[in-house]
Amino acid sequence: MKSNKKDFFDKKAKDYDKEQARVDNVTNIANLILKKVAYSKDMSIMDFGSGTGLLLSKIAPHIGKITAIDISKSMNETLESKRNTIDCKLDIIELDLSKDNLYQKFDGIISSMTIHHVKDTLALFNKFYGMLNSGGTIALSDLDKEDGSFHNEDTGIFHFGFDREEFVNLAKRAGFKNVKIQTVGLVEKPYGKYPVFLLTGNK
Ligand SMILES: C[S@@+](CC[C@H](N)C(=O)[O-])C[C@H]1O[C@@H](n2cnc3c(N)ncnc32)[C@H](O)[C@@H]1O
Repeated sequence: MKSNKKDFFDKKAKDYDKEQARVDNVTNIANLILKKVAYSKDMSIMDFGSGTGLLLSKIAPHIGKITAIDISKSMNETLESKRNTIDCKLDIIELDLSKDNLYQKFDGIISSMTIHHVKDTLALFNKFYGMLNSGGTIALSDLDKEDGSFHNEDTGIFHFGFDREEFVNLAKRAGFKNVKIQTVGLVEKPYGKYPVFLLTGNK
């Protein structure tokens, strides 16, 4: 299903992977996810806001299939161009998950640096819950609360990071169990340092 939404990443997609701090951050996120969540080759997961595939490419060797969901045509095209480097089955779907539905179920959902682009976090968590098989896992990473300086251009931001306690409570309200949140690391930019967290839990 195609979306009419503006492609905020149109000009960024081609060079997205060239920023080393970004690649390092997502690599740290992937490494912590792989420590905290048990995956196997007979599982299928969704990556919400998959972008150019920085996160899913690290998870791919440990999983059977990944469904990459992203609203951005240009980010999806960049991911498509890397398809032969992704070490599992891969579906790439252009979709605005905050508005549209994907009627599929997964054994897990991963996401990095995307949830701050969605206005209604609880509605998103409710949707995630409905898209998981029983026992299915979430591993969701994003910024801690920041002063708005992290993004120096408009990429469709609704939250300047999240308060961890509120984020945990929203996940619990959506029904997730065993919810835990921890620090992944820091994204260092010339004008600030931005902590990043990972929330894990299961249905
Ligand atoms: C900051 S990028 C992160 C990309 C990737 N997860 C990473 O860490 O490198 C955020 C991505 O989320 C996508 N996105 C934002 N809102 C979305 C929505 N409502 N549905 C699907 N994708 C969305 C954007 O198009 C973009 O590719």
